Amino acid sequence: MEKYYHILTYGCQMNIHESEKIAGMLRTLGYRDTQNISNADIIVFNTCCIRDTAETKIIGNIGEIKRYKKKNNDLIVAVVGCMSQQKGAAENLREKFPFINIILGTDNLHELPQHIIQLEQDNKKYIKSVSLDPSAPISEEVPSYRTSGTNAWVNIMYGCDNFCTYCIVPYVRGRERSRAPMLILDEVKMLLDQGYKEITLLGQNVDSYSYENYDFAYILSQCAKIDGKFRLRFMTSHPKDFNTKIIDIIRSSDNICNNIHLPVQSGSNRILQLMNRKYTREYYLKLIDEIKTLPNVGITSDIMVGFPTETDQDFADTLDLVKAVRYSSAFTFVYSPRKGTTAAKMKQLPAEIKKERIQELVKLQNSITAQVSKEYLGTTQQVLVEDTNPRYENSVCGRTDSGRLVTFSGDKSLIGKFVDVKINKTRVASLFGEINV
Ligand code: SAH
Ligand code: SF4
Ligand code: F3S
Repeated sequence: MEKYYHILTYGCQMNIHESEKIAGMLRTLGYRDTQNISNADIIVFNTCCIRDTAETKIIGNIGEIKRYKKKNNDLIVAVVGCMSQQKGAAENLREKFPFINIILGTDNLHELPQHIIQLEQDNKKYIKSVSLDPSAPISEEVPSYRTSGTNAWVNIMYGCDNFCTYCIVPYVRGRERSRAPMLILDEVKMLLDQGYKEITLLGQNVDSYSYENYDFAYILSQCAKIDGKFRLRFMTSHPKDFNTKIIDIIRSSDNICNNIHLPVQSGSNRILQLMNRKYTREYYLKLIDEIKTLPNVGITSDIMVGFPTETDQDFADTLDLVKAVRYSSAFTFVYSPRKGTTAAKMKQLPAEIKKERIQELVKLQNSITAQVSKEYLGTTQQVLVEDTNPRYENSVCGRTDSGRLVTFSGDKSLIGKFVDVKINKTRVASLFGEINV
C-alpha cells in the first residue's frame, strides 16, 4: 500500500532546502508526496522561530492536526527545525500537543528515517532528539528531493557566529561550520549536469565561509568557472564581511548574477551598535556605492523597525538610508522579541509605534520599488523562465539577472530557457514584457 508524506515549511531558504532533504529521506523509506494533508501517513512541520508571527502560525497549524490524528491513530506527526531547537521547546510542544511523535532539532535532521522506522516497528510512540553540538559534523549523506524548479539550492555553510542582539538563529543553528570546497563544487557540477540552470549558494552569512585556507571569494569564483550557461546567486551576505574581492569576482563573471541581498537592518548608527551589527551607516553606504559600479545591479535588503529604544530620529535615519540606497525591493520586519536574546531584555517599544513605522517604511519602499521598475521600461532583459504564471493566461514568468520577476506571453516549453524580453509595462515590483524574436 502506498504511504504518503506532507511537509509544511515555514522558514528561510535554508529551511525550504531542508524540507527538500526531508522529502528525500522520506522517499527513500518509500513514502510519496501528497498535497492533501488528510491522506498523509506522516506530517512533518519544518519550523521557524525567527519572529513571533512564525511561531504563532505553526502552533495554530499543529493544533489543527489533532483531528487527523483522531481519525488515523497510526499517523506520524514530526516537528523539526529551529522552533523545536529552542531551549525547553520540545517539552512545551509535547505537553501542549501530546500526539506529536517525533521532535528533532536542526543538527540531527538526518536521524529522521531511523526514528520513523522505529515508530513503524515498535509500539513506542514518542521520540525526542534535540541536541546542538557545536562541532556536529555536517551530514553529507542526506538525499534532496528538489522541488525548486530551475533553481537548486546548495548549502555552503551552516550556523551563525554573529549574535546580532535581536536574533535567535545563533542559538538554534549553532556555530558556523563550512562545507569542504570539493563537496560544494561536486554538488554544483552534478546539479548543472542534471539540467538546473540556476544555483543559489546558501548560508546565514556566506561571506564568512571559511574552510582551511579557502574563503567565500574562492568558492564563488570556482563555482562560476564551471562549464555551461547558468546563473549563480548567493545569500545571505553580511555587510561586515562583504568586500571588494567579492564584487570584483562578480564583475568578472558572466555567470554570477548582479543581484546582491545585503541586509542593513537599520540606518541609525546607535541602533546598529545596539544590534551588534559591527558596521556603521557610512561604511554600509560606501559598500553600496561600490556595488552600484556593477552594471544593472539589483540590491535588496532586510530592514527592521521597532528595535528597543528606537527613536523617531533613529527611524528617520532608516528612511533616509532607504532613500539613499534605492533598493530594488526589501523585506521589512517589525522587531519581535526572542527569548534568550540580549535585545529581548531591553525596554520594548509600544506596538502602536512599531505599526506606524512599518507602514511608513513599507510605503516608502513600495514607491521606490515602483520607480526602480519604471527604469526597466524599454530595456531588453535576459530572463531565465521559471514557471507558468497562473494569474495571466498563456503566460510564463522568470527573473532578470538583477532578480526582478518578469511576466510575458509564452508556454511551458520555455521553462528552463534563457530568453530576451523587452519590458513594456510595470506594476510596483512586477515587470511585464514580450519576447524578442
Ligand atoms: N543571516 C541573515 C538572515 C537572518 S533572518 C542575515 O544576517 O541577514 C532574516 C531576517 O529576519 C533578518 O535579516 C532580520 O531582518 C529579520 N529578523 C531576525 N530576527 C528578528 C526579530 N527578532 N524580529 C524581527 N525580525 C527579525
Ligand atoms: Fe541572525 Fe545576525 Fe546571524 Fe543573520 S547574521 S542569522 S541576523 S545573528
Ligand atoms: Fe527561521 Fe531558522 Fe531560518 S529560525 S529564518 S528557519 S534559520
